[in-house]
Amino acid sequence: MFYFGADYYPEHWPEERWPEDARLMAEAGFNVVRLAEFAWSKMEPEEGRYDFGWLDRAIDVLSDHGIRVVLGTPTASPPPWLMTRSEGLFIVRQDGRRATYGNRREYCPNNPLYYGDSRHIVTEMASRYGDHPAVIAWQIDNEFGASCYCSICRASFQNWLRERYGTLDVLNAAWGTAFWSHVYTHWSQIPVPVITGRTPNPGLDLDYRRFMSDTYVRYQQQQLDILRALCPDQPITHNLMGFRYDGLNYFDLARPLDFVVWDNYPVLWFDAEADPAAVALGHDAMRGLKQQNFWVMEQQSGAGGWEAMGPMPCPGQLRLWTYQAIAHGADAIVYFRWRTARYGTEQYWHGILDHHGQPGRRYEEVKAVGAELARIGDEVLAAQSHSQVAMVLSYDSRFSLQGQPGHSDFSYPALFGSYYEALHRRNISVDIVPPSADLGAYRLVLAPALHVVGQAEADNLRTYVAGGGTLLLTARSGVKDEANAIVNMRLPGLLADICGVEVADYALLPGDTAVPLRIELPGTAESEQGGEAQLWSDVLAPTTAQTVGRYAGETYAGEPAITLNTANGGRTLYVGTIGDSALHDTVVGWLVDAADVRASAPTPAGVEATERWKDDRRLLFLMNHTAEAQTVKVPRPATELITGEQVGGELTLAPYGVAVVRGA
Ligand code: GLA
Ligand code: ZN
Repeated sequence: MFYFGADYYPEHWPEERWPEDARLMAEAGFNVVRLAEFAWSKMEPEEGRYDFGWLDRAIDVLSDHGIRVVLGTPTASPPPWLMTRSEGLFIVRQDGRRATYGNRREYCPNNPLYYGDSRHIVTEMASRYGDHPAVIAWQIDNEFGASCYCSICRASFQNWLRERYGTLDVLNAAWGTAFWSHVYTHWSQIPVPVITGRTPNPGLDLDYRRFMSDTYVRYQQQQLDILRALCPDQPITHNLMGFRYDGLNYFDLARPLDFVVWDNYPVLWFDAEADPAAVALGHDAMRGLKQQNFWVMEQQSGAGGWEAMGPMPCPGQLRLWTYQAIAHGADAIVYFRWRTARYGTEQYWHGILDHHGQPGRRYEEVKAVGAELARIGDEVLAAQSHSQVAMVLSYDSRFSLQGQPGHSDFSYPALFGSYYEALHRRNISVDIVPPSADLGAYRLVLAPALHVVGQAEADNLRTYVAGGGTLLLTARSGVKDEANAIVNMRLPGLLADICGVEVADYALLPGDTAVPLRIELPGTAESEQGGEAQLWSDVLAPTTAQTVGRYAGETYAGEPAITLNTANGGRTLYVGTIGDSALHDTVVGWLVDAADVRASAPTPAGVEATERWKDDRRLLFLMNHTAEAQTVKVPRPATELITGEQVGGELTLAPYGVAVVRGA
């Protein structure tokens, strides 16, 4: 069944209202809601006294209307009675100051007391609802994140390091603690990287980020173990935050879960408008975590914001974003939230219904989508993406570059996103994979700024290229070893032989400097080869590669900037600068031609086309992200699923309109 529904907070509304909510939901085609993930104080009003009566009744009311339930464990937001028992329960932020009560995510994820509290509430919930026929899945906690720097975390970090390095000699060597006399002679001397300590040793910095990520993986595991034991038939997930969020290694967090869900907000309060490529990247990154379809557990359904609001989605956009999610692999859509809260920090975070609770235009739009999905949900459910292109997402590199971007304007996610966008613009399906992934099935692999590289990762790329693959690498790759020390080699370090090139010299380009390039990629007209060097300039010394781009100005005019190596069985293009989006577009255009990558369909600018496969039949999703009608060519006569009509030749999409074409 295609699950369709909303995040519902019955505890925010009088019980007399619940039947009306359930009725309106059923009319909108809902068959699922998520409940209870912030309801700890209602479920356990004081220590050890549990009250699930209200939740039982809410579930009953919903079940009576055919609506199933995903239950959230409430540990993201503990009640005051719990947190006021010990100051140590509160997180210490990077500025060294301890949080106080009044928001959420204030708990220290290593605190043993909190482990105990979490175990109790989750065990109670799991025992009560583990075989409830209406409860179809569990969500653990809510949006893990927030690093803690308290003394408990510090001790736990020291233990984590002991496990990783074994001896202090190994740690001291890996981190290079001879620098500034940091040689540790006892584990307990090792600090945590609070801001007041200024820039830490990069080895310590990266390890702390990894440790915090592992901390949440471990915290999650406690709840997973309880739920698996008591609720063996209900799948378990956690709601992640897409590609935007960079505090945890999401590959690690997702691994033990049964399925991935994420929270998709195309326009946050600081966004002027939705960026369709950025949203698509969020979906693809989440599909990539387990290389399997996912759910959207919070799909934006109104303007959001805490202090100030962001843009209100235009008529048609909620529907468009819903189909965009499905087009990228969503097997369920749950909107955040059913009704806008009258109280609390999120009074301005709009749901499907406004504060007054009467159906309005967003309700009508969602209801229309519900009617469509009631017809075609089964046709799109579990369809697969077959990508010929992968992008390698390295959390080690991302974490390392958070601590030291090297250039103050350099952003790993921005570079990654810009290359992704060049693929997205061409309607090319992309899998997002970890550096250890088996790449053999892909025609093209992009690994921009693969900064931290271990031997196994370098070997993986080497094997891929040796098998005939086409690989893109860029400046700032192969710079660091796994301990975040700079390699004792010419750059790009362990990747140099794959690229057939060495970096002879490099220089930063100040933020506002753009250096023209003379690009000579084989087989491409000069007019199609735009782009400038920005932020960074490697001066390249090819060993086995050929030069296919040179700086055409400034200090390094005439020197090699881009090289192509075909000596290793495949092709490796090395771009020795960060560059602008025009450069990324040129490079991607050449790569997809060279690797013979297939696009879903040609579309006008602003219209996204994505394909998924159900058995051998292709579903072509056409999505108009513009406010004007757009015309798209359909290659052969086929059925448009939403209308059930035959289409052929051309198809017109209304502003923010969508079509799902089967068989074209
Ligand atoms: C997140 C959280 C929700 C809610 C929304 C809107 O995604 O998971 O609880 O706070 O953002 O702010
Ligand atoms: Zn802590």
